[in-house]
Amino acid sequence: MTSVLITGANKGLGYETARRLGELGWRVFLGSRDEDRGSAAAQKLAADGAHVIMVPLDVTSEESVAGAVRLVRQHTDRMDVLINNAGTPGGGVNPADATAKDIHAVYDTNVYGPVRVTNAFLPLLQAADNPRVVMVTGAGGSIAFVTDPGQAVSKMYELAYTSSKAALNMITVRYAQALPAIKFNAVTPGEVANGRFPATDMNRAGVLTVTEGSDPIIDRATLASDGPTGTFIDRLGSIAW
Ligand SMILES: NC(=O)c1ccc[n+]([C@@H]2O[C@H](COP(=O)([O-])OP(=O)(O)OC[C@H]3O[C@@H](n4cnc5c(N)ncnc54)[C@H](OP(=O)(O)O)[C@@H]3O)[C@@H](O)[C@H]2O)c1
Repeated sequence: MTSVLITGANKGLGYETARRLGELGWRVFLGSRDEDRGSAAAQKLAADGAHVIMVPLDVTSEESVAGAVRLVRQHTDRMDVLINNAGTPGGGVNPADATAKDIHAVYDTNVYGPVRVTNAFLPLLQAADNPRVVMVTGAGGSIAFVTDPGQAVSKMYELAYTSSKAALNMITVRYAQALPAIKFNAVTPGEVANGRFPATDMNRAGVLTVTEGSDPIIDRATLASDGPTGTFIDRLGSIAW
């Protein structure tokens, strides 16, 4: 049975990804920093027949990540797919007003979080036949997208979130180069060319469904062993870094 761990899977795109991979018959380790919200989400998926195990997991805590590894090891000694989905938007603070504290809080979740979780799960990933790591970054991490004057984001002045996702893009590439036996791919929910993104609690202006938003996550999570590593895609295909 294929096993997947999804961080921040109690709602939004993470939950939809859990639902879709559960439907494929995968064993879903549903990460949630809040146990009650995670249990409620896991119960909903289990009621529809999915094989789901809720994993308490706050990506900002080394202790929580270590606990997640221990819990997963009670069920399996390999992890086929890790989806680093948990993310925070931060407060949208203008660069002139941003403090190192604001930036650190966003990076702790969006940058250090995926590194903590990935490194803690490397032994389990390395034990799988075709291990894949999906980094849910964002169009905001694409310098090409943010500097396109036709995109509204070029006039939304913000520092922490977009730079955190740009860092996560580079981190994805560096992992892909250093660990060729594992596929590391970055995805952004949505359609960058059309400026269309999924509606979630994080993006109330979104126009796509969470199913459409999760398409690129599912695509990279289900890659065959001859699939690519070190790519950046949205639901329409490759996008510029
Ligand atoms: N929606 C979009 O248009 C869009 C566009 C580009 C990129 N993204 C990315 O897609 C990913 C999913 O976002 P979403 O749109 O589905 O937003 P969402 O509905 O707000 O979900 C975010 C998830 O991340 C979790 N989370 C936040 N901090 C965490 C932490 N420290 N540890 C563990 N989990 C944590 C949240 O848990 P709680 O419920 O406990 O808060 C929630 O489950 C994010 O990485 C986001 O940056 C989204």
